[in-house]
Amino acid sequence: AADMGKDLERVLITEEELQAKIKELAGRIDEDYAGEELLIVGVLKGAVMVMADLARALHLPVQMDWMAVSSYGAGTKTSGVVRVLKDLDTDIAGRHVLVVEDIIDSGLTLSWLVHNLKSRNPASVEICAALRKPDAVKVPLDVKYIGFDIPNEFVIGYGLDYAERYRNLPFIGTLAPHVYGAS
Ligand code: PRP
Ligand code: MN
Ligand code: MG
Repeated sequence: AADMGKDLERVLITEEELQAKIKELAGRIDEDYAGEELLIVGVLKGAVMVMADLARALHLPVQMDWMAVSSYGAGTKTSGVVRVLKDLDTDIAGRHVLVVEDIIDSGLTLSWLVHNLKSRNPASVEICAALRKPDAVKVPLDVKYIGFDIPNEFVIGYGLDYAERYRNLPFIGTLAPHVYGAS
């Protein structure tokens, strides 16, 4: 994994805890979709680790597809207006779709995305996210599968980046304030 040096403040969720939770969620998903075929949709780039682990933990017949989206505006807070950088390759009409995310922060990305996907007449759309922050509860979003509710801190690892770094850490850590604050 990446050399964290002094950038890591502390480990919030260990690799073992993450892997156990993914297996638990996969068990529930296997039960809930028994007899069905499932399309899991990862939101690039953060969702790559959850997608890879979840897909391998599922016993259902699954297909994998990806979307890349970007929030409009240069601010640090997402605006809620989303631009599609890469759309699905799959026609999801009549399909059971499970959107997979690393984190729900404000909830704006997923609330836009779920609305967008539902307009394509899928059989169903549900959400699976590894992490959720407290602010997310302010946006009405029905999240069926959630790994961990976490405090409002800057978290990295397991797909989550700070300036495109640290995504490859196998655990969730908090970033030391000196990395993103005044040096
Ligand atoms: C992050 C994260 C979620 C989204 C959550 O992605 O991976 O996709 O933000 O934020 P929200 O709930 O406030 O909308 P980001 O836009 O940083 O892109 P990335 O996945 O490529 O890192
Ligand atoms: Mn993302
Ligand atoms: Mg990011």
